[in-house]
Amino acid sequence: MNDDFHYSISRRGFLAAVASVAVSASTRPGRASAVDERLIKVAPNKVRFTGPNGPATSAWAYDGTVPGPALRLRQGQPVRITVENGLEEDTTVHWHGIRLSNGMDGVPGLTQPPIKPGTSFVYEFTPPDAGTFWYHPHADSLVQLGRGLAGALIVEEREPVAVDRDLLWLLQDWRLASDGQIAGGFGSAMDASMSGRVGNVVTINGTVPADQSVKAGERVRLRLANGSLARIMALRFEGHRPVVVAIDGQPCDPHEPEGGRLLLAPAMRIDIVLDMQGDPGSRHAVVDDFYDGLAYTLTNLAYDNATPLRAHPLDAPVGLPRNPLPEPDLAGAERQQIVLQGGMMGGGKLAGVGGMMGMATPGMNGGAAWAINGMSMTGDGHAGMMPQFTLKRGATCHLTMRNETAWWHPMHIHGFSMLVLSRNGSPVPHRQWQDAVLLAPKDTVECAFVADNPGDWMLHCHIVDHQMAGLMTVFRVT
Ligand code: C2O
Ligand code: CU
Repeated sequence: MNDDFHYSISRRGFLAAVASVAVSASTRPGRASAVDERLIKVAPNKVRFTGPNGPATSAWAYDGTVPGPALRLRQGQPVRITVENGLEEDTTVHWHGIRLSNGMDGVPGLTQPPIKPGTSFVYEFTPPDAGTFWYHPHADSLVQLGRGLAGALIVEEREPVAVDRDLLWLLQDWRLASDGQIAGGFGSAMDASMSGRVGNVVTINGTVPADQSVKAGERVRLRLANGSLARIMALRFEGHRPVVVAIDGQPCDPHEPEGGRLLLAPAMRIDIVLDMQGDPGSRHAVVDDFYDGLAYTLTNLAYDNATPLRAHPLDAPVGLPRNPLPEPDLAGAERQQIVLQGGMMGGGKLAGVGGMMGMATPGMNGGAAWAINGMSMTGDGHAGMMPQFTLKRGATCHLTMRNETAWWHPMHIHGFSMLVLSRNGSPVPHRQWQDAVLLAPKDTVECAFVADNPGDWMLHCHIVDHQMAGLMTVFRVT
């Protein structure tokens, strides 16, 4: 499918892919079209969130580690990833944010049969876009993600980017009991109908963060990814001025975030460029202050004592090369709207709508707490989900998302990246393409994308409790 898909994306994308093959053929003989073969084993294992001397926590792991191995792939190079299921329940892998063919998207029932215990599934795709992505299960999602199954997926640019270091912070939030084990009680009615399962311990790349050592004068590309079930983050780098260069893997116009605060909801990724302008030996807090009254220091940037690498910040431009995304044709667009409904203190809207009848307490017994356009699709995905709307292949979809609830929702689209046009009527600057768009309570966001990739695709909130309790829908591209 991949060559096919490249061709259908756009002629430019196809030509870029061809050009890259030519380039890599000359610089890396014999590797250009070689398939990158990977194997990932899914199985329970013990991990130590607080370092080698801390308590062991029982978790579920990709290749034995939490998070799983950071997969580094190359833009335009085919990859074949075999996933072996060593759990005692079904699983799948969703390659979050990668534009791939529908059969490789990892939604059980909808795009593939689930991977049964003791069996494996082979995923094959060619990443068209360079950037920061991630992978996680789409079966029993709340429990499987909540017990540790997630990893970063980095697709490297064809030409290296001019930075001194390329760092990744995969941020994950855990609800740990006092014995250091992951607390049970997944999917409680309260979590489901309110802010989701927000935990009590945040890790960076699987460890409770110690200071991050940095050098004065260096330029760092920092890839931030929020792999939490529910925790929304707002990060401030004290004494520093991060420049956002990509959102959800897609390069944007480089810009400083509003108020210096990076809003990072579950499933979102933000790549920043940080010029380390602090003094040798100094220490600067990185603070997450999203939830009122619950600000905490995530970590500190700790400068070593060496003399600065350079006297002035690097002169090289920070912008990243654009990915071959098809340009929406807004004039000829087909308009669709989804309305998010439900949750506590917003439940009135649910009375008597389709699929919600007779619901006593929202989210009780794994039931529905939320709805999209009056319909609650619960769980992880399954066969026979009827599409909310159907798009003709190649058409531009102008999608309005309206949040009628009292809660925040990062809405994730599978298979596509959306150009974010406006928020509450104001144009969104910086050409932001996103696969997860965060809606504040009562927000209305307008987006657009070209429906170039056929199949049945999910669109859901990535606060996993919300997804499981009905904040999910499916659309079809024919
Ligand atoms: Cu990252 Cu359907 O999800
Ligand atoms: Cu939500």
